[in-house]
Amino acid sequence: MKGIVLAGGTGSRLFPLTKITNKHLLPVYDQPMIYYPIRTLVEAGIRDILIVTGGKNAGDFLRLLGNGKHFGLKHINYAYQEGEGGIADALSLAEHFADGHKICVVLGDNLIEASIRDAVEAFLAQPCGARLLLKEVPDAERFGVAEIVGDRIVNIEEKPKAPKSNFAVTGLYMYDATVFDKIRTLVPSSRGELEITDVNNAYIHEGAMTFSFLEGWWTDAGTFESLLRAGNLVARTRQAPVEEAMAAETMGTVR
Ligand code: DAU
Repeated sequence: MKGIVLAGGTGSRLFPLTKITNKHLLPVYDQPMIYYPIRTLVEAGIRDILIVTGGKNAGDFLRLLGNGKHFGLKHINYAYQEGEGGIADALSLAEHFADGHKICVVLGDNLIEASIRDAVEAFLAQPCGARLLLKEVPDAERFGVAEIVGDRIVNIEEKPKAPKSNFAVTGLYMYDATVFDKIRTLVPSSRGELEITDVNNAYIHEGAMTFSFLEGWWTDAGTFESLLRAGNLVARTRQAPVEEAMAAETMGTVR
């Protein structure tokens, strides 16, 4: 399966941090934000990766990531999004790269603690359609929210005032090749963007959507609060093994 990291947009919710650089180049604890979604794909066995970005700092991605040596890759593909037409607009630029294959898409500001390997394998075993990863959150109104009946998602609402569930649609999407035909039918939303939620609802209405629940912590990093939370979550995860080792040593279980 091919992987796509979407790293365009203006990052306007992080102004002035994003006035002179792209959101996905900002630090999250000890690494640039974009390292985390790339690592998520690579860890799941996806090695053919496209980065979609835009704006004035697109060249900085090439300088930072090069051919992907830091991730054990031999090559990284790049595409340039003109303007900020939305997540589905950015994804439409991946059609040539996808070349009829199934794709795993991750938003460049999403950080995922656990491996997504099981979900990727489940999607590969699925003949066609799409697969989402859901996460229970206390602030569902900030996200796309899944309405679930029985074992099916029946609809997704983008940032609803009164969410029908606590299950956020995370920024990790797996699609078959029909995704690009679906994007071509979209019209811009009230915020002037081609919405990924409309793509997902198209799959749901065809009865072609499946989902998994994400293990471990998950956060976006597109607001001041979530950027801080992301840094703290990464720091705690990095320090946890050290703290556990120190606690074991104090208790005399390690000699
Ligand atoms: O984080 C998960 C959420 O991401 C989902 O629950 C929502 O359904 C989904 O719409 C999205 O919501 P946001 O409003 O947080 O998306 P945002 O506009 O912040 O864009 C997220 C990433 O998508 C961004 O880091 C880069 C990429 N993007 C976004 C836009 C608008 C692009 O590549 N190009 C774009 O034009």
